[in-house]
Amino acid sequence: MNIKLQNLTKRFPARGKKAQGEVTAVQDLSFEVPDGMLVGLLGPSGCGKSTTLNMICGLETPTEGKIFFGEEDVTALPPEKRGVGMVFQNYALYPHLTVLQNILFPLENLKGAERPSRKEMRRRALETAHLVQIDELLERRPRELSGGQQQRVAIARALVKTPRVLLLDEPLSNLDARLRLQTREEICKIQKKTGITMLFVTHDQEEAMSISDWIVVLNNGVLMQQGRPQTVYDDPANLFVAKFLGTPPINVFEGEVRGGMLLLDGQAVLPAIGAPDGPVFAGVRPEGFIPAVDGPVACGLNRIEVLGRDTSIVCTHPACEADTLRAIIQAEQAVVPADGTVRFSLRPEKVFLFDRENGARIATGDAPATGD
Ligand SMILES: Nc1ncnc2c1ncn2[C@@H]1O[C@H](COP(=O)(O)OP(=O)(O)O)[C@@H](O)[C@H]1O
Ligand SMILES: [Mg+2]
Repeated sequence: MNIKLQNLTKRFPARGKKAQGEVTAVQDLSFEVPDGMLVGLLGPSGCGKSTTLNMICGLETPTEGKIFFGEEDVTALPPEKRGVGMVFQNYALYPHLTVLQNILFPLENLKGAERPSRKEMRRRALETAHLVQIDELLERRPRELSGGQQQRVAIARALVKTPRVLLLDEPLSNLDARLRLQTREEICKIQKKTGITMLFVTHDQEEAMSISDWIVVLNNGVLMQQGRPQTVYDDPANLFVAKFLGTPPINVFEGEVRGGMLLLDGQAVLPAIGAPDGPVFAGVRPEGFIPAVDGPVACGLNRIEVLGRDTSIVCTHPACEADTLRAIIQAEQAVVPADGTVRFSLRPEKVFLFDRENGARIATGDAPATGD
């Protein structure tokens, strides 16, 4: 089922006794979740992710804009008529019911003609339990399960009514690191197996990048960029997106364009063809540095961290926004510091220029900001 959000805005009255005016949680947001795709909705805490999900499932009504499921305008449709499955961070299982009873619950709540026979309910519950691989746990109660198992029960409970779409709001945030990895792979598998349209909300860029077919990046309720994860990483539309995606994060320099060259600390480091003269922010991905004895970027060496597969060089540069910058190089590339200085040249495709005022990407001849 294709979901389309059209110019959605949600304003809340400000919270608190003394608060005045309104909070704009989501502003003029438009994007699509294509049929059968896993879309990641990504952004920092408070950027409007949950509000967006709640509007899609019908728990909140948009102040402006429309929501379509396929051709159908569902903006005013009550939640129970939308055929949406929801999974939350805190599992929200019924503690006094067994796993099987938890999964059966949504079916038992169906009324009239929609309500299947007991036998059919059981068949569907067992089939869904099998899909999320909890067949062995059916007689247990939630407290007897690990966090990852509880979340699988919650997913089964959301899937048992065969919803048209599955919405997941930070479903992995309560799990420890190892279970988080494992459970996210399982969610991916379940999506591929069922082909269900899925919108997955997270503030964790790595999580969103690794499982999504498509990511939508939000900040302050406003769409920053959308595209395939790799495309957004390789071609960020603005400084916010460039900084939000990637670990270790991108290194940001206060630079200057003069006569078609990018200058850092007065030193020409790269061509910047087509960029107008003036101050810019230059973002350099950690993998954009190449050690070179006569390279134009001279950095003070702090330390070299050998990580096995690659090597992380922590150093300083007068034009860098942060106290230290981090370059990641192949383990076999040698770094020869001279008097505590390491020199680099830059890979042009890993360097992005941004407007100092508004953070918008500045197109350059060698790295066109095309989007997706
Ligand atoms: N019911 C509400 N009343 C007032 N403000 C709200 C309400 N729900 C959310 N907000 C505000 O809207 C913004 C977005 O919240 P939310 O969608 O929960 O963000 P996220 O899920 O990305 O962390 C926040 O500033 C939040 O405080
Ligand atoms: Mg939230």
